[in-house]
Amino acid sequence: MNLGGGPDGVPLRAEEKVNFNRDVRPVFSDTCFQCHGPDEAKRKAGLRLDTRETAVKPAESGAIAIVPGHPEQSELIKRLTAKDPDDVMPPAKLHKTVTPAQIEAIKKWIAQGAEYQGHWAFLKPERPAVPPVADKSAVVRNPIDNFILARLAKEGLKQSPEADRATLQRRTTSTRDNRTASSARLTAALTSEKRSPRVRSDIDRTRIP
Ligand code: HEC
Repeated sequence: MNLGGGPDGVPLRAEEKVNFNRDVRPVFSDTCFQCHGPDEAKRKAGLRLDTRETAVKPAESGAIAIVPGHPEQSELIKRLTAKDPDDVMPPAKLHKTVTPAQIEAIKKWIAQGAEYQGHWAFLKPERPAVPPVADKSAVVRNPIDNFILARLAKEGLKQSPEADRATLQRRTTSTRDNRTASSARLTAALTSEKRSPRVRSDIDRTRIP
């Protein structure tokens, strides 16, 4: 069941927690904060959405923008989904739209309790749990592969087989040196690993052990 959508259009699964800084803040800051943000002089309707404390209080009209746990009671969702051009937010004259996937993510974030986070730059980095790999045939060399495989699974994609040595050589040269591989390097890549240790180190240097 698709209960929502990430801002990038990838459906969020039911159990997935919406991340305020990743999924919600960018939408608010792009389309709402200029009228409902920290600048008091520009603030409309007495509504301030950049702090939780103010967003969950009744605005001037008495309506409550965010009722944590209850998207259906939240004025903010009513306004985002309003059909009447007089009610819809952001106002049409702004020429900015909030996509259906973004609205779904905001709905879900409210349903999950509407937790705000500090700006990411001030948050202590946290090591995320390494996701398990369901695809038994996948090649996992280090934990970064677990994250990539989890995202591929979410997108319904599968890991591609490892490229041949010439392709790897071409990619490593262009990634590392920002130039195309010389034909000598390519030829070397096609010969065996034992005979061309240089190629091996080129390719291995771009891998994380
Ligand atoms: C260009 C200014 C502007 C922007 C940008 C804007 N709003 Fe508004 N907003 C207003 C004005 C003016 C009102 C009061 C008039 C009305 O109720 O429609 C309002 C009212 C509201 C209300 C109702 C408050 C109440 O008192 O009942 C909500 C909720 C709301 N906005 C949410 C949003 C959200 C969410 C965004 C971003 C997606 C947004 N607004 C972007 C100007 C803006």
